[in-house]
Amino acid sequence: MKVLLVGGGGREHALAWKLAQSKKLKKLYIAPGNPGTAQYGQNVNIPDTDIPALVEFAKTNKIDLAIIGPEDPLAGGVVDALEKAGVMAFGPMASAAQIEADKAFAKQIMRSNSIPTAESRTFDNFEDAKSYIASRDEPVVVKASGLAKGKGVFVCNEPSQAILAAEKIMIGKLFGPAGRIVVVEDKLLGQEASILAFVDGRSIYVMESAQDHKPIGDGDTGENTGGMGAYSPAPVVTDKLMEQIVREILVPTIDGMNRNDTPYKGVLYAGLMLTQGGPRVLEFNARFGDPETQPILMRMKSDLLDVLLAVCKGKLDEITIQWDSRPAVCVVMASGGYPGAYEKGKVITGLDAAAKLKDVMVFHAGTAEKDGRIVTAGGRVLGVTALGDTIAQAKARAYEAVARIAFEGAYCRKDIADKAIEKS
Ligand code: AMP
Ligand code: GLY
Repeated sequence: MKVLLVGGGGREHALAWKLAQSKKLKKLYIAPGNPGTAQYGQNVNIPDTDIPALVEFAKTNKIDLAIIGPEDPLAGGVVDALEKAGVMAFGPMASAAQIEADKAFAKQIMRSNSIPTAESRTFDNFEDAKSYIASRDEPVVVKASGLAKGKGVFVCNEPSQAILAAEKIMIGKLFGPAGRIVVVEDKLLGQEASILAFVDGRSIYVMESAQDHKPIGDGDTGENTGGMGAYSPAPVVTDKLMEQIVREILVPTIDGMNRNDTPYKGVLYAGLMLTQGGPRVLEFNARFGDPETQPILMRMKSDLLDVLLAVCKGKLDEITIQWDSRPAVCVVMASGGYPGAYEKGKVITGLDAAAKLKDVMVFHAGTAEKDGRIVTAGGRVLGVTALGDTIAQAKARAYEAVARIAFEGAYCRKDIADKAIEKS
């Protein structure tokens, strides 16, 4: 098969690595890819949001399957455009990708299908949002409804903070049109978990659980980022809890999407807060998580291409997926200053020495090749991922690999997976 993978982050390096293990794969193109994906296929210089160029490339090169990594092209209708051109595509159509791209839409689906989530209201007018926030006794979370690269959420302890956040988004247009509508919801307490499931419109196949680390600082302090590390499985998600999540959240969401005439196909990612009252949805994503995909795919033993094809053909009920029982931990190495301003072009050393360690994969995210050397080119630079017999061993291995890698200003959290180690 000839496959086009769209995207260029750590998630796409992990997907390319896994796809390359499939006997069915004849040729892999990645648009735009990164130096990591180039080890498994041919990078193509098309931005992941240039939908007409992606469709043209897929037609010209007789692509059998296009796999979409990031949210922007999904929300922009890349799957609709590819399918219209006769190219099979993995991911939801734009109307279904709204479940991520439009938080107000996601809240509506949850409300009409009794899916547990925080109590919320949606506003298109700042004064109304302000009065609502002032009327709440509990702390609230203020969210831009549209796509904001994981930065559109303000968790506030005081009404004054929340009003300021709403003002920045709605009046200051901090996220441009993504903040035209704002969702204000109650703040929930508990541990978070990421549950990713393959969905073919009818059937659901839940992957192994994972946990992300959103804030930049150790102990979950500081600003939110795209994700500073992840591990799988998340020990807090017991079998019993997973059954409850499937029953109360995933099944009604897929049924609700069908009833809404926006059937869902692809990966549905539920970001959950595990509260004392049970699991509650914080957000849905319409794609594989980044960095959760890195540890999850390290643990997947089955052929990923078979699974993605089963999703596209509506035959998910015919497959099973084998998982490595060993846990995996991914530590993100970032550019100093991220998630704020950071410098690029710093030479990265030690990549080969790190990759030599047993059961370690160094997934590239924001990297580029310059004069035969790998340099930094983004905020999140690498996802150093390791398997271990225990989560503590996986963590130790990942950090051993991190210690072999150097670039000026390199930063990583030191406590990735500690929550899971405490729990196990
Ligand atoms: P989201 O993009 O909606 O997942 O939000 C990003 C992060 O903000 C989440 O991973 C949580 O850490 C936090 N968050 C979002 N909604 C809530 C909420 N209702 N209560 C507490 N924390 C939240
Ligand atoms: N890890 C969070 C995300 O993929 O959005």
